[in-house]
Amino acid sequence: MLKIMLVFGTRPEAIKMAPLIKALEKHEQIKAITTVTAQHREMLDQVLTRFGIKPVYDLNLMKPGQSLTEITVGVLSKIESIVSQEKPDLILVHGDTATTFASSLAAFYHQIPVGHVEAGLRTDNKYSPFPEEMNRKLTGCLSDLHFAPTLTAKQALLKEGVPSERIVVTGNTVIDALLQTVKPNYTFKNEALNQLDFVDKKIILLTAHRRENLGEPLRDIFLAVREIVESNPDTEVVLPVHLNPVVQKLAREILGETERVKLVAPLEYEEFVNLMDRCYLVLTDSGGLQEEAPSLGKPVLVLRDTTERPEAIAAGTVKLIGTNRATIIEETTMLLINPREYQRMSEAVNPYGDGKAAERILQAILFHFRLSPLPAQEYDNESGSLR
Ligand code: UD1
Ligand code: UDP
Repeated sequence: MLKIMLVFGTRPEAIKMAPLIKALEKHEQIKAITTVTAQHREMLDQVLTRFGIKPVYDLNLMKPGQSLTEITVGVLSKIESIVSQEKPDLILVHGDTATTFASSLAAFYHQIPVGHVEAGLRTDNKYSPFPEEMNRKLTGCLSDLHFAPTLTAKQALLKEGVPSERIVVTGNTVIDALLQTVKPNYTFKNEALNQLDFVDKKIILLTAHRRENLGEPLRDIFLAVREIVESNPDTEVVLPVHLNPVVQKLAREILGETERVKLVAPLEYEEFVNLMDRCYLVLTDSGGLQEEAPSLGKPVLVLRDTTERPEAIAAGTVKLIGTNRATIIEETTMLLINPREYQRMSEAVNPYGDGKAAERILQAILFHFRLSPLPAQEYDNESGSLR
C-alpha cells in the first residue's frame, strides 16, 4: 500500500483537495490519511461536511485574529509527531497558505517527499499576494512532484529550474469540484438567497478577505460598493462575510445598514457556487473565484493590484482593477450600464481545468511510484484539449 498523507487547513484548500481525496480513497493500492491543521475552523468544517471528508488527524489550531507566525509555528510543532509516527510515502499539500508552507517544511525535516497541488502560480512580487507568493514559492522549493494547473504555471517552474519530469500539467481541481456541484435548477437552502430577484435585479456577488487589503483598501472597497448600490436601483449585492474579525467589523460598519446589500455568513460551498452561477457579476479579491467564475461565464473584477492567475485575464473575462474607490465605481458601473462590454466579459471560458485534474494527479502519483506504467495525460489549457 502507498501511504499518502494530505495536509490542509483552510476553506479553499479543502474545496480543492476534496476531489483528490475522493480519487485517492477509491484506489485499492492507496491509503489516504487526511490531516487538517484547522487553520480555519467553521469555514473548513463547512467544506468537510459538504464533501463527507472525515480527517484522521485534526490539529485544531485556529485562534481568533491569529498571526502568520502563530499559524506557522503551530503547524510545525503539532504535525511533527504525526508525520514521524505515520511515515507516509508522500505528503500532499495545496497552494499557498501558511499551512501549506509549514507542512511542506515539516515533511522536508523528516525527508518525506512532497507533492504540491496547484504549483507554479506566480506574480514574482514578494509582497503581493502577501504572504501567499512566498508560501507557494518556498513550498515549490521543498517539493518533489509539482502538479501545475496550467501551462503558464509549468513554465514558471521550468524557469526556476524545476526539472520537466517533475512537473505535470493537470488542470485545477477547483473545476472538478465546481462541475460536480453547480446545478441548473438548484434551490437554495438559505431562504434569503431564494428571495433574490435574479430576473429584474442585477445581483453582484462580493467577497473580500486578503491580508494586504485589510485596512484602507477594504474600507475603500466597501465604500465603493455602497455608492454603486445607491446609484443603481436595479442592483443588489450579496456579501458572504469572511469570519476574519477585521473583515466582519468593517463590513458591518460600512454596509450593515445599506439597502439592497445582504451581509450573510460564509455560505456552504454548494449554495455559494450556485449563487455565483446565477449572479450578474463578481467583485472579489479571492484567488479561487477568479478560477470558478470564468467557467460559469461571469465577469470578474479583481480587487487586487496583482494576480498569479493571468489566464482568464488573457481570455477577457477577468479584469484586475485594484482597490481604488473611484476605479471600482467606474469599472463596475460600466458593466452595469454597457451591455456590449458586459457581453464581451461574460463569455464562458475554462482555462483552469476540465474537471479531470484529480484523476491526472492520481495517475501521475501512480506512475511516479511505479504502480502504473502510464504517465498522466496532461491538460492543455491553451488549446482546451489533451496533449
Ligand atoms: C488564509 C490564507 C489565505 C486564504 C484564506 C482563505 C494564509 C497566510 N492565508 O487567510 O491564503 O486565501 O485563508 O480564506 O494562510 N476565522 C474564523 N473562522 C474560520 C476562519 C477564520 O473565525 O473558519 C477568523 C479567525 O479569527 C482567524 C481569522 O479569521 O484568526 C483569519 O484566518 P486566517 O486563516 O489567518 O486568514 P488569512 O491568513 O487572512
Ligand atoms: N466559498 C464558499 N462560501 C463562501 C465564499 C467562498 O464556499 O461564502 C468558496 C468559493 O467557491 C471558493 C473558495 O471558497 O472555492 C474561496 O475561498 P476564499 O475566498 O476564502 O480563499 P481564496 O480563494 O482567496 O484562497
